[in-house]
Amino acid sequence: MKTVSTFQTLKENNEKIAMLTAYDYSTAKSLEQAEIDAILVGDSLAMVALGYENTYNITIDEMLIFIKAVSRGAKNSFIIGDMPFMSYNLSIEQGLDNASKMIKAGANAVKLEGCNEHILNLVRRCVESGIPVLGHLGFTPQLMNTIGGHKIQGKTADKIETILKSAKKLEEAGCFGVVLELLPADSAKYITENLKIPTIGIGAGVNCSGQIVVTDDILGKFTDFKPKFVKHFANIHNETFNGIKNYIEEVKNRKFPSENESFLLDNSEKEKLAIK
Ligand code: KIV
Repeated sequence: MKTVSTFQTLKENNEKIAMLTAYDYSTAKSLEQAEIDAILVGDSLAMVALGYENTYNITIDEMLIFIKAVSRGAKNSFIIGDMPFMSYNLSIEQGLDNASKMIKAGANAVKLEGCNEHILNLVRRCVESGIPVLGHLGFTPQLMNTIGGHKIQGKTADKIETILKSAKKLEEAGCFGVVLELLPADSAKYITENLKIPTIGIGAGVNCSGQIVVTDDILGKFTDFKPKFVKHFANIHNETFNGIKNYIEEVKNRKFPSENESFLLDNSEKEKLAIK
């Protein structure tokens, strides 16, 4: 079983950390069988699994359902629960309470977006209470209305220093790693080299300590849009579409179900009812 120190060791040994998202039992099972380093139950599920336009509409109680499903499918994996919008911003007590619900549901750690005094205090209190925390800087989807869209962050030396400063504060507060989203590759490299804890990039180039992407994106399952940083490693959408088309055709042509997929009645019983 991986722990937070596994990720630190991987960074120190210059080995990459591969993380992916999961929202359901069977995807979690596949990720565990493939030996992924960690699974994030991301609030991206609001868009990818529930069809919302952004991540604002998912609640802590809904997130817990998905965390439970993932933890049933990946019993031996390191699972990170993503704290949804406004589930940790009201007070330390609210944040701690909701983070502890995620742990009780089967997560091994939680992820929080941003860095301000409240977040830093919450990180300290979570870590003191035995709840590991993954930070999230750069583009932070829960602040999309403030940022004004999916904009690349850290494009100037000043802005990069600001992100690094925040990352160092999160490190000092006890985060075991920090997600860097939508940054030029060189900016993420600079931040990674100046931090002790690992960075996990998404749209932040190859020099982060590890990578995270949405599984449905890289498997070509979610097709509403394809961000530049996404590469398709499979095409589940086409496979699914073709499978459904074949099923419809076989049902219409009386090819499915065949004898193989049917239960047969004994001939003696058929005779009694004069079934041909
Ligand atoms: O919600 C999510 O899936 C994320 C990403 C970092 C992949 O936060």
